Amino acid sequence: MGNPISLPSILMVGVGGCLPARLVSNDELAKTVDTSDEWIQQRTGIKQRYLVEDERTSDLAVGAARQALKHAGLSADDIDIIVLATTTPNDTFPSTASVVQKDLGAFNAFAFDIQAVCAGFVYALGVAESLLKTGQGKRALVIGAESFSKLLDWDDRTTCVLFGDGAGAVILEAGAPVDDWGVLSSVLHTDGRYRDILYVDGGPSETGTVGHVRMKGPDVFKHAVEKLSSALDEALTKADKTPDEIDWLVPHQANLRIINGMQKKLGLDPQKVVRTVSEHANTSAASIPLALNTAVRDGRIQSGHVLAFEAIGGGLSWGASIVRFGRPS
Ligand code: UT7
Repeated sequence: MGNPISLPSILMVGVGGCLPARLVSNDELAKTVDTSDEWIQQRTGIKQRYLVEDERTSDLAVGAARQALKHAGLSADDIDIIVLATTTPNDTFPSTASVVQKDLGAFNAFAFDIQAVCAGFVYALGVAESLLKTGQGKRALVIGAESFSKLLDWDDRTTCVLFGDGAGAVILEAGAPVDDWGVLSSVLHTDGRYRDILYVDGGPSETGTVGHVRMKGPDVFKHAVEKLSSALDEALTKADKTPDEIDWLVPHQANLRIINGMQKKLGLDPQKVVRTVSEHANTSAASIPLALNTAVRDGRIQSGHVLAFEAIGGGLSWGASIVRFGRPS
């Protein structure tokens, strides 16, 4: 069942996003990387990305969080929990979430980071939902924030053209139980045996360096379509929904071909899919909330709509969730 009636409904009541100031087109990249706008667009759908200069991951997260709080009509004092998904924290510690807590002045909240790479947002959503359902707080700020460009090897054209930086945030609120509202299901999976197809070749324990992203793109591609569609099927079943009840698929934005493959597998109307990969590229944990924010701001997504989220990334880690967005009137 979507939401057992005895537990609170975990409503999604605010959304925000933040991008760094510097916009980099494919043509600009092609001046320093052996690639072309044509190759990048044909293989991925990406036209441009935003890259950090002076901004830190926490700055992007704070920008997204402020917008989400405003959208929800709340202040920083109203937040009890901050869960921030990132692969690119400001520092190894303390958590970037604790920096965000300080910068927002959200001193009633406990705060921590989650690391599930590109699946980070669906993981953070699932964890925050569980914390709220078990009464650990009333409202959670859930953020996906990345300065992913800091992990790129600019001499490796097979990865450096694919990613961008940014942050997105949502506010979750535990409300009176209302059937079929809020987070209806959450499904999370990991298979550590696939570590070698997507990883960073550095880290405090192994090398003492930050490292760079390494990816066997075609291998990840094959896992993506198969694992995302089975996770989404599982999430739909758990939410007691069928694909035709989805108003909007808001997928992880890694590659337009993967997104369109998912849309076809689900038998969804192409108009019901939010696509921002062409503008933002792959922003890892930020990609879903940034896409959500785009479609909420432009009026496509409205209160009461059923949303489907899905994402896969390094680990491999993947997951999906179904949410009826907004507050019941
Ligand atoms: O967010 C985490 C999850 N990540 C993903 O979901 C990514 C999944 N994978 C993908 O999206 C795709 O596999 C890529 C976009 C990474 C690559 O696309 P592909 O169609 O699988 O291309 P490929 O890796 O098979 O490469 C095809 C050709 C190769 O040349 P040859 O060997 O056929 O001569 C590459 O060397 O394209 C070449 N190539 C490039 N050419 C121009 C690779 N990167 C580039 C580039 N510019 N940037």
